[in-house]
Amino acid sequence: MQQPNEKSFERRKFIHTAAMAGAAAIAAPVLGRVLTQVTGSSQIKVALIGCGGRGTGAAEQALKADPGVVIWVMADTFADRIESAHAELTKRPEGSRVMVPPERRFTGFDAGKLACASDVDVVILATAPYFRPMHLRAAVDAGKNIFCEKPMFTDAAGAQIVVQCIEDARAKKLQFMSGFCWRYSLPERETFMRIRGGDIGEVLAMHSDYLTSPLGTKPRKPEWSDMEFQLRNWQHHVWLSGDIIVEQAIHSIDKINWAFGNEPPTRCTATGGRGLRENIPERGDVYDHFAVVYEWPRNRRATLICRQQDNCFNENVDTILGSKGSAFINGWGPTHEIIGEHPWSYPPDGPNPNMYQTEHDEFYKALRSGKRIDDGNFVVNSCRMALMGRMAAYTGQDVTWDQVVNSKENLGPDKLEMGNAPPVVIRVPGNTKLI
Ligand SMILES: NC(=O)c1ccc[n+]([C@@H]2O[C@H](COP(=O)([O-])OP(=O)(O)OC[C@H]3O[C@@H](n4cnc5c(N)ncnc54)[C@H](O)[C@@H]3O)[C@@H](O)[C@H]2O)c1
Repeated sequence: MQQPNEKSFERRKFIHTAAMAGAAAIAAPVLGRVLTQVTGSSQIKVALIGCGGRGTGAAEQALKADPGVVIWVMADTFADRIESAHAELTKRPEGSRVMVPPERRFTGFDAGKLACASDVDVVILATAPYFRPMHLRAAVDAGKNIFCEKPMFTDAAGAQIVVQCIEDARAKKLQFMSGFCWRYSLPERETFMRIRGGDIGEVLAMHSDYLTSPLGTKPRKPEWSDMEFQLRNWQHHVWLSGDIIVEQAIHSIDKINWAFGNEPPTRCTATGGRGLRENIPERGDVYDHFAVVYEWPRNRRATLICRQQDNCFNENVDTILGSKGSAFINGWGPTHEIIGEHPWSYPPDGPNPNMYQTEHDEFYKALRSGKRIDDGNFVVNSCRMALMGRMAAYTGQDVTWDQVVNSKENLGPDKLEMGNAPPVVIRVPGNTKLI
């Protein structure tokens, strides 16, 4: 097992130099293996960065997507997460293509950067989302093709880095696929293709629900530092996850962005709180519900409610009202339909493969053919909309798009090291300031 690099990572400095580094990386030749197309049946080496539930799932889907895929590198802050993901993946029918000896397993805070710099063609970015901008920067600089889980950033400082990375990935012709998996779900795709094609006329209003149960917690172990405790419970700490609206309900926000054609809302208002969160440290500082109203010119509006509470009714649905009809989507159910001038419904027996598998099938097909996938076209607006809703709920104020784009919000610590962790701060609407 490679030892973690002792150097801690200074994020503020990183943010200031990120744009420069990106520009320089485009001008300078990149060392090591860089392939934007992998022809024939040759091997495609993949680094898995973030060996938790989603990362392990994505690695398995990559193995299934293309017989040339090998999992070549694994990186995680914690060695035990690599061990369990490795054990899980090697049990699969494709397990013989998991080829990760100890010298290609990286741990600690530099694990992601070391993995990006290694001899691979593709990186899967699936850590706690706070680290995504840094990992994206390292991946683009090293010329890797990228599968990037959502959300792409948890604060405005991260957004700046990601915007530059997307431009640089474009200039280098790297694959950039996001984990906004509903974009790869066939019934959703067809419904939104019809909506954007004008079948319900102009989109005037939308309502989305993302109502579900709380995510699990990891009880504290005596040997854990405060930082390790927060990392193990990243979902419940705002700086690491972005809160439930950014980490999870962002799927619904992305559908709102899809329906409105990637046009940023001008303003939003919101409310939220921690109604049923147990008062235990594992539950960090995230809220357990949000309600948001997004506004566009000419009184067009979208509303979102999201909730993570036990023993409550759960659903994931979207209703879209247009000038000539309406659409209804039940994300966890069979219904995708349009009523109005162009009535339509997705056939109950129509193709509906696992959207997570479709993502990876399309990714490796594109890599083999040289056709570029660029989800950078929409991910920044979806993620900024999620920040916008969170900012409006935390502050209790209305928030404009310009305020989000120009925000100086920077949630993480100045230095990343296993020891102290950022303070846990429960935001109070009316008191919390917009940054
Ligand atoms: N698209 C989807 O439907 C979907 C579903 C679940 C999760 N996700 C996303 O996938 C990501 C991972 O979620 P998960 O459920 O797998 O969480 P998880 O906790 O199971 O896994 C995250 C892993 O990342 C590791 N990690 C954290 N910080 C790291 C760092 N700086 N460097 C290296 N490793 C680090 C953790 O130790 C952990 O093993 C999140 O962004 C989440 O929002 C997406």
